[in-house]
Amino acid sequence: MKYIYIANWKMNLSFTQSIDFCEDNFILLQELSNNATVVLCPSFVALASLATKLKNSSIAIGAQNCSEYETGAYTGEVSALSLAQVGTAYCIVGHSEQRMYHNETTEKIIKKIKLLYHYNINPVLCIGETYDDLINNQTHTVLANQLTPILIAIAQEKNDKKNIIVAYEPLWSIGTGMIPEPQQLVTIFAYLAQLIPTILPDYSVQLLYGGSVQKNNSVTLKKNPYINGFLIGNASINFKEFSAIIIN
Ligand code: PGA
Repeated sequence: MKYIYIANWKMNLSFTQSIDFCEDNFILLQELSNNATVVLCPSFVALASLATKLKNSSIAIGAQNCSEYETGAYTGEVSALSLAQVGTAYCIVGHSEQRMYHNETTEKIIKKIKLLYHYNINPVLCIGETYDDLINNQTHTVLANQLTPILIAIAQEKNDKKNIIVAYEPLWSIGTGMIPEPQQLVTIFAYLAQLIPTILPDYSVQLLYGGSVQKNNSVTLKKNPYINGFLIGNASINFKEFSAIIIN
């Protein structure tokens, strides 16, 4: 399984900055994506332009979100169909910022994932515990509660894709510079690697870590045998930092 590096630009890069990032670094990005899957997730407004620019390259485009509805009167929403039409290959769902600021519930996440699979877009499902959960030893319980209903819903669907990407992103680690201890991370990922196939036995599972991934911690993180990639926020808006994480 190729390691996957997903750049979650959030609302940090403007339209122009997103275009410049690709144009300025196109050749190097191409090289980086020879041995790894590199996915850039700009804001909606830059998706189509970037997808067109990267069409014949090996660099993939991802969305940061999509609507839970297929079509209709949903002002401000973007459908999975539209994402597919412009060449989006991945879409983040259940990100803690969406859960926190836009009430992204488990029910919404399930609807989004079904639509994404239908339109042949890879969902990147984010899960993670709060700092309170961590210190109260609730991490495994929280992760199981977040994952189980979603995995059961996926198992009930007819889906040819049969692969799932799950990004473990502890909330207390996002944007803070703090990451879990290596041994703690091995335990959590081992738990996820065991849990997911109990519900989706015929799926291939790709597990990602997200939360303050930087060039100076990526080497340690890569030693975790369960981790197959990273979801990278702040460090992904700086090409030097992003490429160092990939090369390291
Ligand atoms: P961060 O964000 O790398 O800035 O911590 C990660 C994320 O929110 O996906």
